[in-house]
Amino acid sequence: MINDTAWNRLLAVAPQRLADLFVAEPDRLSRLSIEEAGLLFDFSKTHLSAGLIDGFLALAEERGFAAHREALFSGAAVNVTEGRAAEHPAERGQGTPESVARARAFQARMRAMIDAIEAGALGPIRHVLHVGIGGSALGPDLLMDALGRDTDRYDVAIVSNVDGAALEEVFKRFDPAATLLVIASKTFTTTETMLNANSVLAWMEEANVEDPYAQVVALTASPEKAIEWGVDETRILPFSESVGGRYSLWSSIGFPAALGLGWDAFEELLEGAAAMDRHFRLAPPERNLPLLAAFVDQYYSVVRKAETRAVFAYDERLRLLPSYLQQLEMESNGKSVKADGSAVEGPTAAITWGGVGTDAQHAVFQLLHQGTRLVPVEFIAAVEPGDALDEAHHRALLINCFAQGAALMAGKANGDPARAYAGDRPSTTILIDRVDPARLGALLAFYEHRTFANAVLMGVNPFDQFGVELGKEIARSIEAEGTDRFDASTRALIARAFG
Ligand code: F6P
Repeated sequence: MINDTAWNRLLAVAPQRLADLFVAEPDRLSRLSIEEAGLLFDFSKTHLSAGLIDGFLALAEERGFAAHREALFSGAAVNVTEGRAAEHPAERGQGTPESVARARAFQARMRAMIDAIEAGALGPIRHVLHVGIGGSALGPDLLMDALGRDTDRYDVAIVSNVDGAALEEVFKRFDPAATLLVIASKTFTTTETMLNANSVLAWMEEANVEDPYAQVVALTASPEKAIEWGVDETRILPFSESVGGRYSLWSSIGFPAALGLGWDAFEELLEGAAAMDRHFRLAPPERNLPLLAAFVDQYYSVVRKAETRAVFAYDERLRLLPSYLQQLEMESNGKSVKADGSAVEGPTAAITWGGVGTDAQHAVFQLLHQGTRLVPVEFIAAVEPGDALDEAHHRALLINCFAQGAALMAGKANGDPARAYAGDRPSTTILIDRVDPARLGALLAFYEHRTFANAVLMGVNPFDQFGVELGKEIARSIEAEGTDRFDASTRALIARAFG
């Protein structure tokens, strides 16, 4: 159990029902409904009472939140286990002059590459096949899916899975002679990505593309490895080692989106994120969106013992947001030790899951309304529609979204227990003016900073991910030495699959 002064104070705050909070706090909506950078955040349907917020503000102070945040922006080695800074804000112009200058130089290189491709210097490119995984795929994929639906600049495909079926599907519709192979890997050693890159090259060779290597661009923090692989130095778009994979869509990892959407759109994305950076850095704690969101997360996770949190995008364009957030939140904060190596006292990151509204209503919402588990829900919707059909569609979409939040909170009594809704179930709503690069940039930066704020409150380092290594190590060892040293179950499965 967490046992320190600030937490003791928080745990002593008597729980109140949401409906009662609206009565007890007449200014609740104005305090907890906050607008920034074209996004409206409504935390009023969460159990954050004025008393709880005071308690959390004390906790943030006790944890040295302001100093940690300053350390992030001032280029200190906040990634303590790997002894380096976390420089993703520098990509948006928010960091030390040196790191911002470095990011700008890398971006200038990116822009020049886009100009060269547009001018035909790499051949008649129409198709862009980006191979990468995790942070080297989820961000660009989300950006293209959200913002690239109406653009016909390039046909961009993002392939992450090592399952050959994923590549094969793209091979069916892409012309090898008009395809740019973009290899995205911070380390340039990730097995899946390297295997996929080799297969794309083989596909080009089989189609007698004259010089396939001339159609390859690498996005990496390990340029020497890309050169070793065969990428020409002039077609390597580097980024800083201090930009973490899941925080890297702002760096050259965002290249397919910058190419597919155009440079202006990419700059707007960065500017939107910078607006959220400034808010996070300067807004008072009681109006600070990422910090308030972290208070909500900590409250449900620690006090109400919620094991998960669910995110529902009521907008087709944001359908990839839940998977993007799964990596951001779970890979960052799914830890059992604090930054100093000591064991954490309470739970760390909740399991992030979610889907798309209204589809999810007809599949998983039963559990949200009547199940025994508490699931804090987050709704994300946009005021401006993403379609040109009859406005009835968008109206129905938004009304359903708002109705779900109202239903979760209000509940409904019924003499028949099977038909009764307990209510008092929390939700947060994020309402975006419109889905455009600037607003999406602000939204994603909000999530990054919320993850950071959670990490500070829990005392963990959100910038390493050693937990992903063991499985990779075992896969390598099975390939190299066979299965002898592994358990009977693993040996039997491998024997069954490969004979
Ligand atoms: O295995 C997890 C991970 O290291 C992620 O953190 C990262 O985003 C992904 O793999 C891809 O790594 P890379 O960009 O080095 O290929």
